[in-house]
Amino acid sequence: TTKIILDTDPGIDDAAAISVALNSSEFEVELISTVAGNVTVDKTTKNALKLVHFFDSNVEVAGGAEQPLLKPFEDAARVHGESGMRGFDFNYEPTEIPVNNAVERLYNVIMANDGPITLVPTGSYTNVALLFKQHPDVKEKIGKIVAMGGSIGMGNMTSAAEFNVFTDPHAAEIVYQSGVPIVMVGLDVTMKALLTQETLDTIKTLGKAGEMLGGLFSHYYEGNEGGIPMHDVNTLAFMLHPEFYKTEDLWIDVVVDGPAIGETVADIRGAYHGGSTNAQVCVDIDADAFNKWFIEEVRNMKA
Ligand code: BDR
Ligand code: CA
Repeated sequence: TTKIILDTDPGIDDAAAISVALNSSEFEVELISTVAGNVTVDKTTKNALKLVHFFDSNVEVAGGAEQPLLKPFEDAARVHGESGMRGFDFNYEPTEIPVNNAVERLYNVIMANDGPITLVPTGSYTNVALLFKQHPDVKEKIGKIVAMGGSIGMGNMTSAAEFNVFTDPHAAEIVYQSGVPIVMVGLDVTMKALLTQETLDTIKTLGKAGEMLGGLFSHYYEGNEGGIPMHDVNTLAFMLHPEFYKTEDLWIDVVVDGPAIGETVADIRGAYHGGSTNAQVCVDIDADAFNKWFIEEVRNMKA
């Protein structure tokens, strides 16, 4: 099994990633930390707690950054709904909401762990950047970071920038310059690994978890040609099934101002960084294998 920490902003595809992580026997989830992103952090924290409760799990949730490091916060409620998880009624309101303890909990959990831990950010990287700035000694205890975000092609927020990196480009820059091994799971693969209509129809029939995820998916990327993306789930799929993905080692820089703010620039020709690399970048995926795998994950979820 792999020990992971999810740093997340649920968010519908984050909700799907949390559901997979909490149910898979391949993962031990040591902590879920939340960040402002798809919606405000009070909402992303509540949503994480709702999912933990739904699956009757005892994984700890810690509340993280309310704002990006420097850039003003803009949410994505238009995509995920006002609550961040439109489409399913969890019938549960968490009462104790952890606030502003993510950096401390990330630090303590990672340092207390025997082996290396994999950090899986699926929101903006604000918490991770704060962790690295405040506790640089934590870096050597992190085996790697498998992060959803970025793109070496088009953006989905601006023409250049993907949403997670756009939300907090300064944090992303700190993470890419940290020296910790990083896998970039960006739009280059997540916009190819679309769940087809057939997959969506199957998911709805797969018990309580299928009903919950089917509900959330029903308004997510409505009308997108070819199906709906499951961006954040690709981080976990990559860890379990690297054979689904084609990767390239590249140097990634993050643009922190101007019209391309939030763009991840890959030094494909090696001309800028002399062939040095700082990331393993996912560049292609077997979408069919991803669909089949995801269906089986949902089928095995216990709610
Ligand atoms: C990313 O942005 C968010 O809206 C999704 O949850 C995902 O993490 C995709 O660009
Ligand atoms: Ca996300």
